[in-house]
Amino acid sequence: MEPLGRDRYETQGGTVRTIFRPMREEDIPTVCAIENESFLTPWTEGAFRNELTNNSFAHYVIMEEADSGAIAGYGGMWLILEEAHVTNVAVRAPFRGKGLGERLMRELMRKASFLGAVRMTLEVRQSNAIAQALYEKVGFRAVGVRRGYYTDNHEDAVIMWADLPKTQRSP
Ligand SMILES: CC(C)(COP(=O)(O)OP(=O)(O)OC[C@H]1O[C@@H](n2cnc3c(N)ncnc32)[C@H](O)[C@@H]1OP(=O)(O)O)[C@@H](O)C(=O)NCCC(=O)NCCS
Repeated sequence: MEPLGRDRYETQGGTVRTIFRPMREEDIPTVCAIENESFLTPWTEGAFRNELTNNSFAHYVIMEEADSGAIAGYGGMWLILEEAHVTNVAVRAPFRGKGLGERLMRELMRKASFLGAVRMTLEVRQSNAIAQALYEKVGFRAVGVRRGYYTDNHEDAVIMWADLPKTQRSP
């Protein structure tokens, strides 16, 4: 299937319909395949398993393409009191450039706010202009740099913060 443009993925011409749900242990092999195609130093299966089973601060979401059920992306964060710290965000390569990364970030922000966070932070490689543009688009601002933060190539990390819009908790 040929890409049809930024907002059009299906040949019928509609936008990609997505479903968000919590990450489960059986998702980990697919998540790691996306992780491997996305990052210089990908997280291991064990690291994700530990997050899902041992870390009560961790919240991981899967974004599925609704029609096929395929995993299109995932994101995670640690939520400690009023602050959410994003750990991973990735969209599977064929799904990129169609607005899904933005949808995923907005879902993480909505969920964090729903769970009581008022602000969100993350680190992003200085060279990752695409991710920085995405984060700025959804309300993040660069506030500083951690020198040599990434141990694989000693690249600097840009530290970004966003205030979260208030989300009503359900009654
Ligand atoms: C970063 C990533 C999640 C973006 O996902 P995506 O689905 O391609 O992004 P979207 O289509 O939702 O685009 C949202 C915004 O991101 C930016 N963006 C996306 N693709 C871009 C590109 N090729 N060039 C420049 N900016 C781009 C733009 O600001 C865009 O907004 P616009 O469409 O109004 O211009 C995806 O590229 C990815 O998974 N990359 C590898 C993993 C990674 O780097 N994760 C972040 C680690 S901190």
